[in-house]
Amino acid sequence: NKGKYEHYMQKEIHEQPESLTTTMRGRLIRGGSCKAKSVLLGGLKDHLRTIRRSRRIVFIGCGTSYNAALAARPILEELSGIPVTMEIASDLVDRQGPIYREDTTVFVSQSGETADTLQALEYALENGALCVGITNTVGSAIARHTHCGVHINAGCEIGVASTKAYTSQIVVMAILALAIGDDTISSQGRREAIIDNLFDLPNKVKEVLKLDEEMKDLAKLLIAEQSLLVFGRGYNYATALEGALKVKEVSLMHSEGILAGEMKHGPLALVDETLPIVVIATRDACFSKQQSVIQQLHARKGRLIVMCSKGDAASVSVGGSCRVVEVPVVEDCLQPVINIVPLQLLAYHLTVLRGYNVDQPRNLAKSVTTQ
Ligand code: UD1
Ligand code: F6R
Repeated sequence: NKGKYEHYMQKEIHEQPESLTTTMRGRLIRGGSCKAKSVLLGGLKDHLRTIRRSRRIVFIGCGTSYNAALAARPILEELSGIPVTMEIASDLVDRQGPIYREDTTVFVSQSGETADTLQALEYALENGALCVGITNTVGSAIARHTHCGVHINAGCEIGVASTKAYTSQIVVMAILALAIGDDTISSQGRREAIIDNLFDLPNKVKEVLKLDEEMKDLAKLLIAEQSLLVFGRGYNYATALEGALKVKEVSLMHSEGILAGEMKHGPLALVDETLPIVVIATRDACFSKQQSVIQQLHARKGRLIVMCSKGDAASVSVGGSCRVVEVPVVEDCLQPVINIVPLQLLAYHLTVLRGYNVDQPRNLAKSVTTQ
């Protein structure tokens, strides 16, 4: 049931304030006069000690689910102090990469049925690692075969392009980071700030959804382009990959997410007056580095669309003209949840304007159960 919406993808983008609220329900504890704010993941509480003792955390997934894990990686490293590595499920299986008993492997999958992820899970089980699932589907193969896990409770996702599951996955993995780091006094202030921001996150997503018309106007400008690059770094490297994945899979326009730190190592050669480039430059520890990337792109007359924090339009426009998309500010580790929304809207409008099927892109299936 699409309700007032024309497409499932559109409905699922716009229902993110509600899906995020459901994802967090019962999992954030407000604290009291003498009790600290904290988090509760029912499915993991008996395994947290084992996870804290593991030598390494390995995130494993495909497509959007991999990107969500990549977005959560920095905060998990920061709050747990445990090295976190990333594996695309098929690549781990192809390489038969090393997985040890001392590892915690985390399998991220919306459907819980993706063949590559399931095969990687079997491999990790054989190698004796603790296997944790993060899935949207109760009773799915990944939920059943993992030792423990978390349901993201985002509600059924019908559009082939994953949208609301992505933001709920990031939030669950941020809560996972908070839960693992829960026994560390030195990061308590940071953890409480993140919890406060989580409570307010659905409101902030509501605010960023107001960019709908603006993103439709931007889509009109880009409708006939061959290609779109998306530059991000730090917390928003994942946003660049995920934004580009959305654009390519539904609007059928070539799009590539690029780690901004790699710009001079190749991609800069592509920059000219015609190729549109989205640069994500919201406020965080990488902001000044992104400002210098923008200046270097301006110097090569790049055609820029800059996503920045509210109030920063002037400071990112120094050195050349560009289109600016201003988004609300949240705690740095949650900013990817906000920043992906305008790119989801852009991908949606580009697809509709270009006349393609937005809910069923050609050649794709919602759940990839074969290899
Ligand atoms: C559970 C209930 C929820 C109830 C809440 C109240 C279920 C599915 N969930 O949620 O309805 O409102 O208690 O306290 O009945 N698991 C895996 N692998 C996965 C995902 C989950 O093994 O990939 C396991 C978990 O370890 C846990 C169980 O499935 O044992 C349920 O997980 P989850 O729904 O996340 O737990 P709660 O949030 O506690
Ligand atoms: C992209 C998309 C795919 C899936 C991937 C993994 O929008 O939906 O990239 O993310 O096929 O699927 P799950 O998360 O079900 O394992």
